Amino acid sequence: MAKILDGKAISAEIRAEIKTRVNELKEKGIVPGLGVLLVGDDPASRSYVTAKERACEEAGIYSKEVMLPVTASHTEILQVVEDFNIDPQINGILVQLPLPDSSMEQSVIEKILPEKDVDGFHPVNVGRMMLGLPAFLPCTPHGVLQILKRSGIETAGAHVVVIGRSNIVGRPLVNLLSQKSELGNATVTMCHTRTKNMAELTRQADIVVAATGWPGTVTADMIKEGAVVIDVGVNRIPDDSKKSGFRLVGDVDFEPVAAKASAITPVPGGVGPMTITMLLANTVESAVRSHKAE
Ligand code: GUN
Repeated sequence: MAKILDGKAISAEIRAEIKTRVNELKEKGIVPGLGVLLVGDDPASRSYVTAKERACEEAGIYSKEVMLPVTASHTEILQVVEDFNIDPQINGILVQLPLPDSSMEQSVIEKILPEKDVDGFHPVNVGRMMLGLPAFLPCTPHGVLQILKRSGIETAGAHVVVIGRSNIVGRPLVNLLSQKSELGNATVTMCHTRTKNMAELTRQADIVVAATGWPGTVTADMIKEGAVVIDVGVNRIPDDSKKSGFRLVGDVDFEPVAAKASAITPVPGGVGPMTITMLLANTVESAVRSHKAE
């Protein structure tokens, strides 16, 4: 049976470090602040935003939420971003995605000042990350790297297969893991919906990362004995036995895969809490940088 990579415990460890840092900054009169924009009433987005705000509060980070109705215009959305851009109390800006109209997403992301883009989605940060320059790293990929590092799983020389090519997770992860850096130096293969013989590739992997948004993407026959499995998926599936009417599952067929793997992240309690933790880390980093720039 695989070792469970406890993202909740690793998150708690990092959040304690962040809280100490925030207290030190407050003594110097610096209070890190996060501006959050939620458009529409998607229940999953609402629950992510609430979790992010609660995490800010626990870490001593100021957060300001703006909610717009599902009918909000492009101009109204850009105006909220601009208000955050010029607000000196706001060091980080988070526009919860997806937006009700996904065709607006790129222009909204590009409206965020790169120095406040704590999601690491702005082309300036994406480009800087790609070049290995200092940049805000996207939170989920960064969280995955931290789980590996803090669990003592070596990426250098490992063959990592990443399943998924999203701009938020798959592509940045492939980039970061392949970089000549402490958390990289892996040989990386990217798989996606048009990949042929995916199982042949995943069976060669020392580490498999699943980031597709489809339950059951990774089954036990796709895994080499002793591989490490990181499950980025957060999928809601109907479950009448739950008060909410659903339960969360990842992209990995957990029980059979765990029986074969050497280590695995659970869902919930794996990568999910790490995403929020890295958002807090980026917000604090942004506050420190803006103070230095003064
Ligand atoms: N939606 C799903 N993941 C994320 C994330 O990391 N940041 C934002 N802003 N929206 C998301």
